Amino acid sequence: MDGSVEQTRQTYQGWDEFYNKNVDEKLAFFEVNGRLFDVIFAQQFDRPFMDYLCKIADMIRLLAQTKMGQEKLRHLLPHKRAMLYFVQPSTRTFLSFQNACYILGLSVSESRGTSTSSEVKGESSEDTIRTFASYVDLIISRHSEAGFAEKTAWVLNQTERPVPILNGGSGPDQHPTQALLDIYTLERSFQDIGGLDGKKIAMVGDLKRGRTVRSLSYLMKNYNDTTLYFVSPDIFRMKDDIKDFLKKHNIPYYETEDFESVMPLVDAIYMTRIQKEYSDDPSGEADTYPGFHFKKKHLAIIQPHCTIMHPLPRRYEIEVEVDNDPRAAYWRQERNGMWIRAALIAYVFGVEQEVSKEFL
Ligand code: CP
Repeated sequence: MDGSVEQTRQTYQGWDEFYNKNVDEKLAFFEVNGRLFDVIFAQQFDRPFMDYLCKIADMIRLLAQTKMGQEKLRHLLPHKRAMLYFVQPSTRTFLSFQNACYILGLSVSESRGTSTSSEVKGESSEDTIRTFASYVDLIISRHSEAGFAEKTAWVLNQTERPVPILNGGSGPDQHPTQALLDIYTLERSFQDIGGLDGKKIAMVGDLKRGRTVRSLSYLMKNYNDTTLYFVSPDIFRMKDDIKDFLKKHNIPYYETEDFESVMPLVDAIYMTRIQKEYSDDPSGEADTYPGFHFKKKHLAIIQPHCTIMHPLPRRYEIEVEVDNDPRAAYWRQERNGMWIRAALIAYVFGVEQEVSKEFL
């Protein structure tokens, strides 16, 4: 016996009705005075916001190159405290948010599992998050349940002490800040060839349960003339909700199992891992699908400017021999996460103009 008690399930009047609304109808609930307050869905980001945030991220990374610049950044938010509530495993989302906080001078508390908190005694997740809000000014969460970040933001926004919630991944549905860093990486990769507009992107692997490719697909509506190629085994095809969204916004997409046929066509290849942790029937899935791996030999058939991305962690999707090719962007991509998340935190606290002032 480990002494843990089943978690209390509380009923919130109005939650089910809110949860079942169309995302567009919910967006205003997570804004204050026309600015984002909570970051829950990728659909909250429009083109001006994306362009603005990428610029702020560029400025933060430039300032961080000097000791004097680092000092300036650290003095932006030393009076603020953040809670990192990461109860689903994470390496880079956790570390990039934590270090983004350090860059801006925030103090950070963390919980990396429910076994050492009063959730062991049966406290509900909602009461746990409300308790964090008693002590900190910002909550960043990673959770295995779809809708977790949305529900906690919805609950907190109706209390006398709402604090912003940033969704660091909630089950297989959304990972909006990963989409931000993916866009930032794509825009930087294409900065000499007209940016992301007009580009063709292949998304490869487990598209059914990959929250990163889902969130990134939503953001394509902000860019002109993009085309998506969904490359996956039949059992991991992109779900209909994303395909319906793309149709509604006139974004062309193609589906195929023939990865090699797509490689020479595209400007970016976004690889993903098979997410077996979400499987209803693990025995019905292979551990690895070699037809959907990017191998060293493939470097010869992709375009000279094609950028190879992966949200990481990887398993066998990309051979390590690919890592040293200049087109392999995934290690830069994870570092970009720290800069864009620092830009997002600066924006949430309304100090991002202090950053841009340094460049006037
Ligand atoms: N890309 C990503 O979310 O990685 P982690 O699971 O390591 O945070």
